Amino acid sequence: MGNLDKPNAKKSALAIGSRRAASLLIEAAGDTSPVAGFTHNFYRYPARFSPKLVRAAIEIFTQPGDLILDPFVGGGTTLVEALALGRHAIGTDISSLATFVSEVKTTLYTEQELNTLIKWIRRVREGINIWSPAHVNAKYEAAGYMRHLNSAATWRLGKGIAQVLASAKRLSTPQLEAFARCAVLRTAQWALDGRKKLPSIDGFRDALMSNTVDMIDGARELRKAVSAAAERPPVIRCLNRSTSGLETEKLVTTGRKPRLVITSPPYPGVHVLYHRWQVDGRKETPAPFWIANRLDGDGAAYYTMGDRGGTELNKYFASLRASLQSIAALCTHETMVIQVVAFSEPSWMLSRYLSVADDVGLRERFLPQLSNVGDRRLWRTVPNRKWYADQRGETNGSQEVVLFHRLKS
Ligand SMILES: C[S@@+](CC[C@H](N)C(=O)[O-])C[C@H]1O[C@@H](n2cnc3c(N)ncnc32)[C@H](O)[C@@H]1O
Repeated sequence: MGNLDKPNAKKSALAIGSRRAASLLIEAAGDTSPVAGFTHNFYRYPARFSPKLVRAAIEIFTQPGDLILDPFVGGGTTLVEALALGRHAIGTDISSLATFVSEVKTTLYTEQELNTLIKWIRRVREGINIWSPAHVNAKYEAAGYMRHLNSAATWRLGKGIAQVLASAKRLSTPQLEAFARCAVLRTAQWALDGRKKLPSIDGFRDALMSNTVDMIDGARELRKAVSAAAERPPVIRCLNRSTSGLETEKLVTTGRKPRLVITSPPYPGVHVLYHRWQVDGRKETPAPFWIANRLDGDGAAYYTMGDRGGTELNKYFASLRASLQSIAALCTHETMVIQVVAFSEPSWMLSRYLSVADDVGLRERFLPQLSNVGDRRLWRTVPNRKWYADQRGETNGSQEVVLFHRLKS
């Protein structure tokens, strides 16, 4: 097992030796400041990356124009950072909610579009009225996507959301509609998900206004960073599909190979609710898909590569193997593969995870500075991490490890 490769001096964005690269990574991994900047707060995607860690990895292992791949892209943190730094990127995720959020966060909105959105939100603010009728898409209603939004506690917010969505649909382009839907998504998550006491409809209205204004500022900040980083914006693509079999996807196989894969697969044994919000206590609602106008895939197991039962996580590790096999097939010997993972029981799950990676041809690398520290791996504590269920393991999942691999030679 070797040390972390010294970045190729000619190809590296930072012409530095591996000790310097490692120091930057260790520093970025230790950062506990809240997620901020650009479009990162368009939605609080569960178990999202620290943008600072992603940024450090991109700066260390790639240069402008390189391709970065995140095959479990979630809320698109990697894509936003890649875009801001002038790198091309592909993100894939099995969840249509994830690709919706990633697409909106990486769309470069013109000043004219942002002005239209400001006018829209001023209009809409006045149009939220719980005593007026709300038109709800019959297809979503019949499929149960508004589940638990019609109780005594939630119906006002449910109606307000429906009214804002109806007005988002009347915006002139799909791009503007998607932004508006994302503003509703962010505000509705704040208003409903995991709350003991729900805000009033006035509170929802005010939050929608301030969130939209904040998102417009973020979109503007991102656009400025992109034009400062490169003459032409890099190409960012989101695919709604499974990682398994990705090496057969035309969009991914034509063109350059990824210089960096940075990703965070579902965590073994840690149940994260990626696709639902919890309202009225622990009742799960698929409302985020209704708001995004996307179809839900399936039950929790679909999004977590397993299920809540079973102690050996065989289903999880079989899915992991298929995914890592596909990722390895897309790499070259120059590709750095970084995975950020938490475990409910690291004592056995980490070694099983690593043996799957080894089996598919990925060789673990270590940071030189950590050669005498613990298990030599870069562990980080995630601030404010909250899991919705199943905290049966040895750890509450707030510790995660940053793993480095390259293809075996
Ligand atoms: C830990 S999250 C990624 C969070 C992301 N790093 C971020 O910053 O938002 C894991 C993601 O893997 C996705 N996922 C689960 N199984 C998948 C599969 N087989 N292929 C692709 N994505 C999958 C889930 O939908 C979820 O969005």
